[in-house]
Amino acid sequence: MPKRYTIREVPDAGGKIDYEKALNPRQAEAVLHGEGPLLVVAGAGTGKTRTLIYRVARLVELGHSPASVLLLTFTRRASEEMLRRAALLLDRRCEKVSGGTFHAFANTLLRRYAGAAGFGGNFTILDRADSADLIGLVRQEVHGGHKTVRFPKKETLADLFSRAANREEEIATAVEKEAPHFLYCLDDILRIARLYEETKRERNLMDYDDLLLRLAALLRESESIRRAVSETYRHVLVDEYQD
Ligand SMILES: Nc1ncnc2c1ncn2[C@@H]1O[C@H](COP(=O)(O)OP(=O)(O)OP(=O)(O)O)[C@@H](O)[C@H]1O
Ligand SMILES: [Mg+2]
Repeated sequence: MPKRYTIREVPDAGGKIDYEKALNPRQAEAVLHGEGPLLVVAGAGTGKTRTLIYRVARLVELGHSPASVLLLTFTRRASEEMLRRAALLLDRRCEKVSGGTFHAFANTLLRRYAGAAGFGGNFTILDRADSADLIGLVRQEVHGGHKTVRFPKKETLADLFSRAANREEEIATAVEKEAPHFLYCLDDILRIARLYEETKRERNLMDYDDLLLRLAALLRESESIRRAVSETYRHVLVDEYQD
């Protein structure tokens, strides 16, 4: 098989950042990695975040448009801090890198593509407390005012529904694993879950899990949106992937 070579621009010799000096060999390898996926697995405090900051600067230094680089992290503060540090390494272009939390990113895309996905772009987001309150209302409908000691509280139900959503497993499985003592009222729990889903749809509400799951579904189902998104964000960097 003949070898294929691709010619591409590199920054001026001796660009602004001395990667070999600032990073250890494995970090430099990750930062200088070319195209394609790369997963870095390393222990706490070994310099994973530092590596990502240098990678952001590297991509911008190579001439990639900052908006085409997407940095996803656990908290908004973490992402702003990383972009600020990348800007110190290189220049202010790094501050224009796209990014934020997974939920914020999902929110932005869902609002943009809501029409195509068949729901209103003016949806309201339920935080964890709102979500538990709505579950509480539905619970009241299903369970009435019985003061049964062993019927799950709204927070417990919210946790169970969220665990099931996050692990993409059945609610029955979550109950079995996390709260088997409530299996005796599984039918009521499932009715509450169904009503909760219906109410959210009717009232154009999304809880935090919906943001992630609906974006994932949208990207799975719509080829044109998937293509548009992957053409916009050419480089996706994720810190704290395990979370
Ligand atoms: N090659 C290096 N040279 C000098 N300092 C380094 C190097 N690598 C990491 N550090 C420093 O070590 C500290 C920990 O690095 P960093 O926060 O990037 O690690 P991490 O793997 O992301 O940690 P955590 O698991 O807590 O997220 C930071 O202060 C960072 O600047
Ligand atoms: Mg880190």
